[in-house]
Amino acid sequence: MSPVPPVPALFTVTTILVILFTDVAPASCWRPWHHSEPNSSDLLYGASKKYEGSSEFVRLRYHMGPVLTENITIHPIWYGTWERSQKKIIREFINSISAVDSKQPSVSGWWKTVQLYTDQTGANISRTVRLGMEKNDRFYSHGKALTRLSIQYVIKSAVTASFKPLPTNPKSGLYLLLTAADVYVQDFCGQVCGFHYFTFPSIVGYTLPYAWVGNSAKQCPGVCAYPFAVPPYMPGLKPLKSPNGDVGVDGMISVIGHEVAELATNPLVNAWYAGPDPSFPVEIADLCEGIYGTGGGGSYTGQMIEDHDGATYNMNGIRRKYLVQWVWNHLVSYCTGPNALDQ
Ligand SMILES: *[C@@H]1O[C@H](CO)[C@@H](O)[C@H](O)[C@H]1NC(C)=O
Ligand SMILES: *[C@@H]1O[C@H](CO)[C@@H](O)[C@H](O)[C@H]1NC(C)=O
Ligand SMILES: *[C@@H]1O[C@H](CO)[C@@H](O)[C@H](O)[C@H]1NC(C)=O
Repeated sequence: MSPVPPVPALFTVTTILVILFTDVAPASCWRPWHHSEPNSSDLLYGASKKYEGSSEFVRLRYHMGPVLTENITIHPIWYGTWERSQKKIIREFINSISAVDSKQPSVSGWWKTVQLYTDQTGANISRTVRLGMEKNDRFYSHGKALTRLSIQYVIKSAVTASFKPLPTNPKSGLYLLLTAADVYVQDFCGQVCGFHYFTFPSIVGYTLPYAWVGNSAKQCPGVCAYPFAVPPYMPGLKPLKSPNGDVGVDGMISVIGHEVAELATNPLVNAWYAGPDPSFPVEIADLCEGIYGTGGGGSYTGQMIEDHDGATYNMNGIRRKYLVQWVWNHLVSYCTGPNALDQ
């Protein structure tokens, strides 16, 4: 749901890991949060984890709630000022999830790991994810500082608007609130880059799974658009070139992927998650935060791909390239992605 920040492992340690365990991505999630301090236990995990052994360590369980097995429709709500070019990058990512003809490694290959999850009846997560009707909230209907609660009112406005309201479909609709770079959302940058939950019938009239993802370009690109920006307190680290020329939006893509994967497998926060506490569930993307390729773990992103123009990515969409974190595969008990070197 919201990533828990551990600690940078030493680059040397992770380099060794790459060599030793090339097919195993350890389950240590990482973003360069300002408050993440070196923690020796983390270094220890880093050094010792052959994380396929993490089936004992990571207890991802199914808690009998629904998952999204019907064709999924994502409804973006564009909050604040968005450029056409920015919307295009995000729309094409969503459209790439079920695309059949993308070059490998592909976004649709990435979704295959999500499809491995099932509900009580054995039905898998839907293969089909569509871009649905969208809503513009151009004039910041609820101001430039949103709370978790006021987000529900933004969604309410979108589904109850007198002009072209978004359709309400609790079984297969996902409502994706995307906030422009000048909007602050509760806990943004300090603790989260995005989160997901469901709306309350008492507020919105329906129980709708939703996610929020913010454009961090002005507020904390070094955290939420990492590795396309690096935080000032990590001197010597160079930002990587982003694949679509927009650091904030290219950084959002992985967070959107994270939230959509978790919404599909845990839409009402009572299906697939690890950890004893349902109020702080650790979900399939939390377990792989910061891992984009083979060998990833700690502060090492894993093996990515460098484009001929020097941009870094790890999967192909319909027309564009994207960098998207891997997700947890409960069949093998490690993080997997379409660009794994052993595939
Ligand atoms: C490191 O983190 C782990 C888990 O978050 C915690 O249990 C442990 O006490 C921490 N160790 C130090 C030295 O801070
Ligand atoms: C779900 O999507 C598939 C693939 O696009 C399509 O063939 C099928 O008719 C859809 N089912 C429903 C119920 O819309
Ligand atoms: C459905 O889930 C099962 C159990 O994880 C898996 O073995 C199977 O390959 C999945 N099917 C698809 C189409 O992903």
